[in-house]
Parts: sequence; C-alpha cells; structure tokens
Amino acid sequence: MTTILVTGGAGYIGTHTDVELLNKGYDVVCVDNYSNSSPKALDRVEEITGKTVKRYEGDVRDEALMDRIFTENDIDWVIHFASLKSVGESVAKPIEYYDNNLNSTIVLLKAMRTHDVKKVIFSSSATVYGTPKELPLTEESQTGGTTNPYGTTKFFEEQILRDVHVADDSWTVVILRYFNPVGAHESGLIGEDPKGIPANLTPYIAKVALGELKEVQVFGDDYDTPDGSCIRDYINVVDLAKAHVIAMDRMLGGKSLDNVEIFNLGTGNGVSVLELINTFEAATGVKVPHKIVGRREGDIEKVWANPERANKVLGWKATETLADTLASAWKWQERLRERGIM
Ligand code: NAD
Ligand code: WQD
Repeated sequence: MTTILVTGGAGYIGTHTDVELLNKGYDVVCVDNYSNSSPKALDRVEEITGKTVKRYEGDVRDEALMDRIFTENDIDWVIHFASLKSVGESVAKPIEYYDNNLNSTIVLLKAMRTHDVKKVIFSSSATVYGTPKELPLTEESQTGGTTNPYGTTKFFEEQILRDVHVADDSWTVVILRYFNPVGAHESGLIGEDPKGIPANLTPYIAKVALGELKEVQVFGDDYDTPDGSCIRDYINVVDLAKAHVIAMDRMLGGKSLDNVEIFNLGTGNGVSVLELINTFEAATGVKVPHKIVGRREGDIEKVWANPERANKVLGWKATETLADTLASAWKWQERLRERGIM
C-alpha cells in the first residue's frame, strides 16, 4: 500500500486531490491546521470516496507533530499544499506569509530527510513568472520579479527545493505551477469556499449569481486585449488534482527523475474576464450583473500557459471545458447554500 502525506489536504485543491488519490487506491494522511478550511471538507472527501482519510490537526511548522506523523505512518510521498495564498493579504501581512509558507516547507523537508522520505510534489503558481516577458509561458520562461509577498514565497520555495536536490540528488522533486484553478467536484460536495468576500473572480461571480453580492466589478476594459479585459488561463480543479496523481504514478512506475521536474498546469487557452462572465451565464442560465471599474493595482494584463511539457512527459492534459467547469462551480455554490455544507 502506498501512503501519501497531503499537507493542506482539507483545502480547495487538497480535497480534490485526496479524492483522486483515494479513488486510485492510495492511502491518504492529511495534516492541516484548518486556518483556511474545515475538517468537514474531509468528511465530504470520505463521503465521495467511501474511504477514510487519516487526519492530523496541526501546523506543518510544528516539528514535533511532523516527526510524529512520519513515525506513525509509512509515508511514501508528500504532496505539499499547505500555504497561505491570498495575494492582497500577503501585502498587508508579509511576516505572516514568509513565516507560514517558508517555515512550513523547511520543517517539512527536515522531517522528510530525517525519515528518509525524499519524494515531494510542490504546489507552485504561475505567479512565479511575474509579468510575462513572452506568451504562452513555458517552464523555461523567466521567473522572478514577483509582485507581492505571496508570489515571492512560491519563488523562494522553488529555489529551496532546487537547492535540496543539488545537495542530495536522491530527492525526487516535482514542482507544479498552477495557473488559475476553478470549478468543483461533480458531486457538488467539495469546492472553493473562501472566507469573507472572495478576492478571486470565479467565487465572486458565483456569489453575485446567488444574489449574495450585488455585481461583479470588472477591473479594467482598457487593456491591450480583444475586449479590453485581462486574460487568464482557467484550469479545472479536478484536472489539476489528477495531474498530481499522474505525476506520482509515473515516478512510482519506475521512471525516476534526474532533475527537479517543473510542469505548467494550465489549459493553454487565454480567457478574458468578460468572456468568463459570458460563459458562466451561458453554462448556468443565471445572469451575472457586472460593471466595468478601474484597473486593480498589480494586475497583469495577460497570462496563459504552454502546457505541452506536462502533456509530453506525463501524458496529462486538461480535459474539462470552461462551460462545464463553471457549471460545476455554480452547482457547488448552490449546494453550499442549500445544505450549509462547510
Ligand atoms: P487553501 O487555502 O484552500 O488550502 C490550503 C490549506 O492549507 C488550507 O486547508 C489551510 O488550512 C492549510 N494550511 C495553511 N497553512 C498551514 C500550516 N502552516 N499548517 C497546516 N496547514 C496549513 O488553498 P488552495 O487553493 O487549495 O491552494 C493549495 C496550494 O496551491 C497552495 O500552496 C497555494 O499557494 C497553491 N496555489 C493555489 C492557487 C489558487 O488559485 N487556488 C493557484 C496557484 C497555486
Ligand atoms: C482573475 C482576473 C482580475 C476579481 C490570483 C493570484 C495567483 C493565483 C491565482 C495562487 C483578473 C479579474 C477579479 C474581480 C475582476 N493564486 N477580476 N473582478 O489575480 O489572476 O491570480 O489567483 O497562486 O497567484 O495572483 O486571479 O481570480 O483574482 O483574477 O475583474 O472581482 O479577474 O483583474 O484579471 P489572479 P483572480
């Protein structure tokens, strides 16, 4: 039996990955401090899969806890999601962001080394590319020039992982750079549930569609794009979750890695804010009132991935359409309201 430690496994991407892992027959051990999630999300993972997630409530920065987890379980791989992730909050609270994100990674890596578990998949982000110098972004595109502390933590953490591999090449390090994850599991039982008013576009749209917020503010229509609004690469969260399992399966299948492997996880399609709103309306039949306002400070005009490498090396590619993805986000929001899931 192969056992995966999933840090941050109660969060948005973590829960979707737990489901894919359990469905593939892996055992899942989750450590989460529930700072941005709830143990109820793990109950839903168990409801979907009919399997159990072994849970540890606590902080990845807690060295004694991490030592206990590796002592009590025969961990084969680690998928490291635990992180604070709000761009705006990171500007206001840089110390908390550097402390949480960098120290959790360092404590985790120390525990892994002590217990001789040297296989890790790390959640990185397209944010490490800063303002793109070229499009689409490939894994070789220039990184750095990050525009907020959150993005800088991801940039630094990637470097820490590369340095660990330089010092000891028996480590297997997979860095996955997510573009804009959206949508929810088809069951409607797990999804993204940000606390307070959402900062990200899709959960904001869903709240407007529900009538909980008045209208979507479209941040700028004077960008150098076909309709003037910003362009992003929106990737379905289940497609994203599957990439983790595929990457791990491949390594477990004996195709070991010589290097730190980096993969962009996106669709390769750039979609504007206005296109996203229109697609949501068409997919759900629900109107989303919106108005154009000024640009949001720090926004990047256009970002999309070249996901070819993940396709060639891993055989992974995004399969869900944007319309189905947005319909899944809507189903999740409706069920959240009806049943008070979280
Ligand atoms: P999330 O907030 O839903 O999940 C993160 C989980 O980690 C939460 O359950 C939180 O409680 C937990 N956590 C945070 N710090 C912890 C700590 N020190 N110890 C234990 N648990 C801790 O976020 P998500 O959207 O699922 O993101 C998962 C990963 O993907 C993060 O590393 C994030 O930076 C990265 N990422 C997310 C996006 C996105 O837009 N969602 C994009 C690119 C990368
Ligand atoms: C998408 C587009 C906004 C809200 C952030 C992080 C990134 C990654 C994903 C973790 C932009 C526009 C938004 C609204 C709008 N996270 N928008 N009205 O900024 O691309 O990426 O989340 O790694 O690091 O920076 O995502 O969803 O906030 O915005 O017009 O109310 O929607 O201007 O063009 P972003 P987002």
